[in-house]
Amino acid sequence: MYMQMDFLGVLEFLSDYSWMFDFKVTQILTDVTISKVPKEWREYLASTSLEEFNNSVMRRQLCSDAPHFITTFKNRLNKLEVNFTVMKNESKKMSPEKSRGLTRKKIHEILNFSTFIQEKCSSTPAVATTVIDVGSGLGYIGGELVAGGLDVVGIEGNRHFHQAAIKRSLEEKRRLVSAKISDETLDLEDCKERGKMSHVNFMFDNSPETVEMLDNYVGSSPSTMIALHACGDLTPDIFRIFSKFSTLQSLSVVSCCYHKIKNKDNFPLSQELSKISARQGTEFFNHYFLRLGSQETIDRWWNMSASAHADHSKNVVFRSILEIFSLREGRTLKKTRRKAVRKDDVTSFSTFVSSVSDSYQLELSDSDKEKLGNIYRDKSQLFDYAENLTGCQYLIQGVIESLIVCDRAQCLREQGFSVTIHQIFDQIISPRSKVLHAVKPQSER
Ligand SMILES: C[S@@+](CC[C@H](N)C(=O)[O-])C[C@H]1O[C@@H](n2cnc3c(N)ncnc32)[C@H](O)[C@@H]1O
Repeated sequence: MYMQMDFLGVLEFLSDYSWMFDFKVTQILTDVTISKVPKEWREYLASTSLEEFNNSVMRRQLCSDAPHFITTFKNRLNKLEVNFTVMKNESKKMSPEKSRGLTRKKIHEILNFSTFIQEKCSSTPAVATTVIDVGSGLGYIGGELVAGGLDVVGIEGNRHFHQAAIKRSLEEKRRLVSAKISDETLDLEDCKERGKMSHVNFMFDNSPETVEMLDNYVGSSPSTMIALHACGDLTPDIFRIFSKFSTLQSLSVVSCCYHKIKNKDNFPLSQELSKISARQGTEFFNHYFLRLGSQETIDRWWNMSASAHADHSKNVVFRSILEIFSLREGRTLKKTRRKAVRKDDVTSFSTFVSSVSDSYQLELSDSDKEKLGNIYRDKSQLFDYAENLTGCQYLIQGVIESLIVCDRAQCLREQGFSVTIHQIFDQIISPRSKVLHAVKPQSER
């Protein structure tokens, strides 16, 4: 079922609480960032243990002895919640041969997404036998759908992934044929039940070239377009192409990496949210906002042990101290690796300081280390503050992601499509878990 979201209520809420998220994570302890936090919240976040914070703020239920500003926050947050249809987790299993080399996350995604697509393809009115899989990667989803009897065209922009996907398909075919020869009990008809898999190496976008390329694959019979973890601008481009082909009857997209959106027309995407946000003013629709929408969900927060929280808060506080030092001293912080600070680097502040020259292009003199030590002493009361504020961000994450997903759904509805949103993955295993499913009306088919 598709639930409407109160866009105006969400924007007012996010505007009132933008101090919770509208900053770079490493600036969480800078004076400028802290000065934007209302005094009552600042004192509360700094002086409350994680356990008490979880009871008062993080749990959905209202806590009778919580301060009024927390009750107000939670009342407003709870009112904005959208209840997406949750798909039961699949009891389907993957054979050991197929699952070799795959993570638990990937197996979970392949089984659940392919089950969803198969159900939608076989249910009326959207019967489709050809599936166009955009951003098909190594072709895992396609492999599963072909085994279920559907024809699949996997469109993949990366040449190496495209070639690896072809290799996987061939190996799978060989495995089936040799199983047919060696396993007398296998019904030879089994293999005839399988669909056809094609792989295309192409960068999909909203261009005439994409339309021309698709003309070769979207025939006159009903077909469906799917994408698993379409990042940045790819989802809006898929929507635009979907509208152009009348035989493309339905669409199922799981999006990710909202912060990679480059085209400013792609968020907000619907006329409704665009109108409301133009009226309200939404300075916080920026990179930090989209980045938080792409982060882990509240389920992960509840799954964290006390020591994971302690490690996390040290990581955030130490990096913020380094950021304050770099801002004060006019020193540039350039990472030497993608994840600059590792778990072992934050066992203590002195270990962290020793690791700085490996993690960043930054040499620290003895006097620099002393300055860092002084900032650390200044900020050392703020470990609880940083972790509690991170907790608030986990709550805001759900609101931001729901807003992005509902805005996309609304954009499709404005074109007359019928749209539903389903949560198909366990969010602890795979946080980008919502699939947007659109079906064209009868008249357009
Ligand atoms: C996160 S991966 C998901 C892969 C696959 N759907 C899966 O779930 O296993 C995204 C894939 O989309 C591909 N991709 C991204 N943008 C694309 C585009 N515009 N056209 C075609 N492929 C694209 C990437 O190369 C990558 O393989």
